[in-house]
Amino acid sequence: MVASQETEFIGAIDCGTTSCRFYIFDQWADVVAHHQIEFEQLHPQPGWHEHDPTIYTVEIDKCIAACLEQFESAGHTRDQLKGVGIATQRETTLLWDRETGEPLYNAVAWPDARNAANVRDLRARAEGTTFTTPDGPIVGEEGMRRITGLPLSTYFSATKWDWLKDNVESIKEARRKETLMMGTVDTWLVYQFTGAQNGGLHITDASNACRTLLYNLHKQDWCGELCDFFDMPREALPRVVSNSEVYGEFKKGHLLEGIPIAGLIGDQQAALVGNKCLTKGDAKQTYGTGCFMLFNTGTDIVKSTHGLVTTVGYQMGPNNPVHFALEGSVAVGGSSVTWLRDNLNLIDHPREAGQLAEQVPDTGGCYFVTGFGGLFAPYWDIRATGMIIGLSTFTTKHHIVRATLEATCFQTRAILDAMSKDVATSSPRLEDDKQLEKGPAGLKVLRVDGGMTGSDVTMQIQADILGIDVRRPEMRESTVLGAALLAGGALGLFGWNLSDPETLKKVNRLDVKTFSPTISEQEREWKYSGWTRAVDRARGWQT
Ligand code: G3P
Repeated sequence: MVASQETEFIGAIDCGTTSCRFYIFDQWADVVAHHQIEFEQLHPQPGWHEHDPTIYTVEIDKCIAACLEQFESAGHTRDQLKGVGIATQRETTLLWDRETGEPLYNAVAWPDARNAANVRDLRARAEGTTFTTPDGPIVGEEGMRRITGLPLSTYFSATKWDWLKDNVESIKEARRKETLMMGTVDTWLVYQFTGAQNGGLHITDASNACRTLLYNLHKQDWCGELCDFFDMPREALPRVVSNSEVYGEFKKGHLLEGIPIAGLIGDQQAALVGNKCLTKGDAKQTYGTGCFMLFNTGTDIVKSTHGLVTTVGYQMGPNNPVHFALEGSVAVGGSSVTWLRDNLNLIDHPREAGQLAEQVPDTGGCYFVTGFGGLFAPYWDIRATGMIIGLSTFTTKHHIVRATLEATCFQTRAILDAMSKDVATSSPRLEDDKQLEKGPAGLKVLRVDGGMTGSDVTMQIQADILGIDVRRPEMRESTVLGAALLAGGALGLFGWNLSDPETLKKVNRLDVKTFSPTISEQEREWKYSGWTRAVDRARGWQT
């Protein structure tokens, strides 16, 4: 069969925490070509987590090359690829020099917790600082939270910057020379792809910007007061753009030379789009390196009082309104399974975790609190530690592996509980919202995506622990799909209008699989109470 030379296609890059991938989609968002590569994680000291910044584009370019080969062997040509969207891990912090284009330090990845002491000092300093919030002047961390939607945590970029600016000579020097450039992974990739020091764009999108602790959610701009508080030079920060517009094109000499970059977004928000959670009240959970549940709150900025963060969801073009989300962020998801492989050698491949776990009916009383770098939502405890408890002579590796999978599922339950409480009590009250007359869809059934959802046993455990249905689409890589939809929408391809979910009806239309709870309420609550007791033991451990 000779493929049509008229057909148009859209590409998407996903640069996650542990791997990157490139996909090419057709007009139904069916996958035409894809390639994925795991990249090196650097842990130079306990609690530290870095990436070599140059590796991102090297590995992404290998993915692009492999995809183009598949694409061309299917009879298509490169000029049928009309644009590319980019989704990235968020919060990971990069600093580089404007003159040389060279990185000044490794990328400090979002789970890196070297800045725990900085966070304690910053918290104390914030207690003596008054912040101008939409609710009036408020002192301390609460003031910062009202502006940014975030707690002060090791997780977010500004607290990483606080460590970098004091400890890295090259950064101090670039600052003195006023050649410092700061960005998250999205910023770095676009800068590289569009020409680096030879005219590369210095931009970020709002879904990434709002994870820095420097961004005012209400004004949709960098916050001068927070830049001052964190001693961040305003001119080092990138320009903030929407998630769906043509920003520029791939530089001369690149495999994708001349192809427009038309979508830019944080990976979790991309998954919200890719899982088609485009209506207020829709929610999804993505199981990647970490695990992230996002609940679409429409154009309302909803303050959490139960340990979630408020975040930008997406903005479908510069003239469209910004949509927001409540997010429950779990630091360790799929990375617990790679830890079993890389650190304990219990498995050779992540897929073996499910195979071992299903050979036992339960964990034999074993719980694994995967608080490697502290615990994120809803606990926000930087002093929590990783801990396996409930071991006995009965315990086998099967139980430990099953407890590892359960850990992610229990944390998801904690997030879902917090989200239900926020939905019931938040201001503005989501439960009273007319748009949600039929109840928040996302809390009655959990839409899931991401790597770990490939494991049936994990999804069954998840449904059992949550007590609600868990719904998995056939196309589980919602992140990369979301980036493609955003780029396609910006370029006016395929009739995709992301402000009108009806136009996406035929997209990702493949069958879903639903996992329903199979255990009694009593058993569920008994298991979960064991988890909460285990978490209590793990909290506050680190000095
Ligand atoms: O906030 C961190 C998140 O963006 C990382 O995503 O998919 O690498 O777990 P992932």
